[in-house]
Amino acid sequence: MGLNGKAETYRARRSRFLEAIGEGATAILPSAPVALRSGDVEFIYRQDSDFYYLTGFEEPESIALFSPGHPDGQFVMFVRPRDKERETWTGKRAGIEGAMVEYGADKAYVIDEFEKILPRYLEKSERIHYPLARNEHLDERVLKLIHSSSAMRPRIGSGPYAIVDPREVLHEARLRKDPFELELMRRAAAISAEAHKAAMNKARPGMKEWQIEAEVDYAFRSRGATGPSYPSIVASGPNAAILHHIENRREMRAGEMLLIDAGCEYEFYASDITRTFPIGAKFSELQRHLYSIVLEAQLKGIERALPDARFDDVHDAALRVLVDGMRDLGLVTGSTDEIIEKGSYRRFYKHRTSHWLGMDVHDVGLYKIRGESRKLEPGMVLTVEPGLYIDEACDEAPARLRGVGIRIEDDVLITETGHEIITAATPKQIADVEALTAG
Ligand code: GLY
Ligand code: MN
Ligand code: MN
Repeated sequence: MGLNGKAETYRARRSRFLEAIGEGATAILPSAPVALRSGDVEFIYRQDSDFYYLTGFEEPESIALFSPGHPDGQFVMFVRPRDKERETWTGKRAGIEGAMVEYGADKAYVIDEFEKILPRYLEKSERIHYPLARNEHLDERVLKLIHSSSAMRPRIGSGPYAIVDPREVLHEARLRKDPFELELMRRAAAISAEAHKAAMNKARPGMKEWQIEAEVDYAFRSRGATGPSYPSIVASGPNAAILHHIENRREMRAGEMLLIDAGCEYEFYASDITRTFPIGAKFSELQRHLYSIVLEAQLKGIERALPDARFDDVHDAALRVLVDGMRDLGLVTGSTDEIIEKGSYRRFYKHRTSHWLGMDVHDVGLYKIRGESRKLEPGMVLTVEPGLYIDEACDEAPARLRGVGIRIEDDVLITETGHEIITAATPKQIADVEALTAG
């Protein structure tokens, strides 16, 4: 399917959502608040993922209302009014006309009318789906109106008696990607692959980490991505053992490796890729040995990413390979099961192997259902990202191993018959990496 199915895709998502919340419910979904960066300068605005998922609407100060079967309209939008003068400062607004014509709202109002209009919907509803504790100011206004409408309930026989979190329904929907989303995720992955290849090709001893970060940013933006979907980690030598190293200002030295964890956001969809490679050289013998352990762990993890496998199976498979590798290196002792049971591997591998991926880099959706690791299903996208980290101060490790961090991360879509590695164009086999770093 091409990207021109956008309007139908949004319509289909909304009808599934309306059906899921059912008659007698009203859902209120606010846009993301504007955030100040410093002084009077704002952060670049990024729409709330849940709101965007159902509306495709990027403007701030808007609210979407969903009310199955309501006679006045079941998809209602509250938006900023058109304003010729303001639009010359901050850009074009859709206005109420645009909300209906371009975004498919059955009815639209200016945002200032929200409190006047909302009671018409509350009065006819029993359950109000509203994400509490995200926006205190709005919580106060909405709760006051819910309270007044439920006070009427005994006399008119309708009105709200329950507040439900809309994310329960919405996040299960977002967890299974539709074909439209998958096109965007593949595009994000393809752009990020180009960024990693450029980084492998350009990194040389004597450069600063931020120079490579700039290459990554350039690769993203020059291909139409919004930018990074999370702060890029460009970690050379010992910095690679610092999991969230984002300062990116160290000078890279000969004989070191560079770990890059970077993925772009494209049309609201994230990619998340990590590669670790020798800087302008081939892997040393020791680096090759360590890298091969992580690569083997990652391949074993990906092998388990299948429909009907448990989410935790991927982690368990990767972890066994890592633990065996750690024991061979003399980092841990005991049988594989004992080491896993005791958790002594955690000194060298402290994060989990996978997370959901989608509009958000750590995307929504439950990992467990009533305490049990959930089954993987077609349409789910997860990362597989084992690593091995031996920090500089690690007394438990032989000196020659200290100051190293390796992670390899791909994005994997579960399909009907197996999986698709949507980031497969990013080299990770040793020969393919060396062709770029030492070519
Ligand atoms: N880049 C964030 C993560 O890998 O989870
Ligand atoms: Mn990740
Ligand atoms: Mn990552």
